[in-house]
Amino acid sequence: MRSPDFREACHTLLKANRRSHHGVQYTVPSPSTYPYQWLWDSCFHAIVLAKLEPEAAIAELRSLLSRQQEDGLVPHLIFWQPKFSHPYHVWWDKSGKSSITQPPMIAYAAWEIYKETNDDAFLQELYPSLLKFYKYLIEKRDPHDHHLISIINPDESGEDNSPRFDVAMRVKSNISFFAHMYKRHQLVVANRTCAFDPLTCMHERFWVKDVPFNVIMIRNLNILAQIAIIMGDAESERYLKQHAELISFTMREYLMAEGVFWSAIGLEHGHLKVATWAHFIPLFAGLYTKDEADALIQHHFHNPSTFYSPYGIRTVSKQEPSYRPDGFWRGPIWFAPHWFIYKGLKSYGYEKEAAWIKEVSRGHIDKNGFREYFNPETGKAYGAHNFTWGTLVLDMD
Ligand code: GLC
Repeated sequence: MRSPDFREACHTLLKANRRSHHGVQYTVPSPSTYPYQWLWDSCFHAIVLAKLEPEAAIAELRSLLSRQQEDGLVPHLIFWQPKFSHPYHVWWDKSGKSSITQPPMIAYAAWEIYKETNDDAFLQELYPSLLKFYKYLIEKRDPHDHHLISIINPDESGEDNSPRFDVAMRVKSNISFFAHMYKRHQLVVANRTCAFDPLTCMHERFWVKDVPFNVIMIRNLNILAQIAIIMGDAESERYLKQHAELISFTMREYLMAEGVFWSAIGLEHGHLKVATWAHFIPLFAGLYTKDEADALIQHHFHNPSTFYSPYGIRTVSKQEPSYRPDGFWRGPIWFAPHWFIYKGLKSYGYEKEAAWIKEVSRGHIDKNGFREYFNPETGKAYGAHNFTWGTLVLDMD
């Protein structure tokens, strides 16, 4: 596909997946498999739409933030048009939204829109909700002031059945997709009994300081600090920057071992030693020194026995017992991790590696259309059709 055609194909898909009702507008990740609004998906849509149709990007974030809870949490899932037969609906809640969140990419997406539009009014409109969301994460998801943000369900990471969470979920490395889904459902039911109160839910059930979530938090706090300057809010700017620094420092201090970052569990920050693409995402927030990054690229990025495959970067190292090339988040290649890795590589000046990520990502779309995830050993496409994440390739520039 030529570049102008690819741009057109991305725009066509995003328009086809667009839904407007109840006075809101948003994009579904896939009409058949994912017919609702998801948090980080909407951020990805807004990032791409910022380049294609900024008004639609603004509408996407507006609808996402319109269901923000009183305490500041932005739900990971909004059921604007509930389909009662659909499992997600039964799973998450019956109140039109879920009670958990997802990686906080909203400030980043808002900034991408601002870069294209210079629209202060839109920033002004969103700013109070953004501030409230990131403050919620700082205050409620780090109740012991450890300066690491916690998640209370694997789905909050966006990597639903990733083996990074096997120990925290008390499941074996060979667990099936459906058995894992059942366990996560049980966790939701259990967390309902503590009303999704982070402090109680963490202590009693599932408490992970996840690397990608914290990296995304750092990057977004720094962006929100920039937005705070435009808003003339010097006090918040200082607060946001300070927390970005505290999390960065604590990640290096407590989550780093053997030259890479590991997610951690509970009060003691016990490392969850499963090698996943989470080793690469710290590049996105500049957490590795240049020497550390060089070592990472050499030992992992280019290493076919761990992460490198001819079709892209595996989400789980091939050496992990949990690795399944067709296992959803237990090995396959996904566009969002590719996008984060691409941005990280570019910021460190790894041009050749970044160009390769873009090329293999485009290759999947040219061959299969917009599918969800891919087998690292064979290139076979799986999962949802007309899935929007492939449009992120348009933002690999
Ligand atoms: C899957 C993905 C999650 C995404 C959702 C909607 O559950 O694991 O990250 O948000 O689909 O696309």
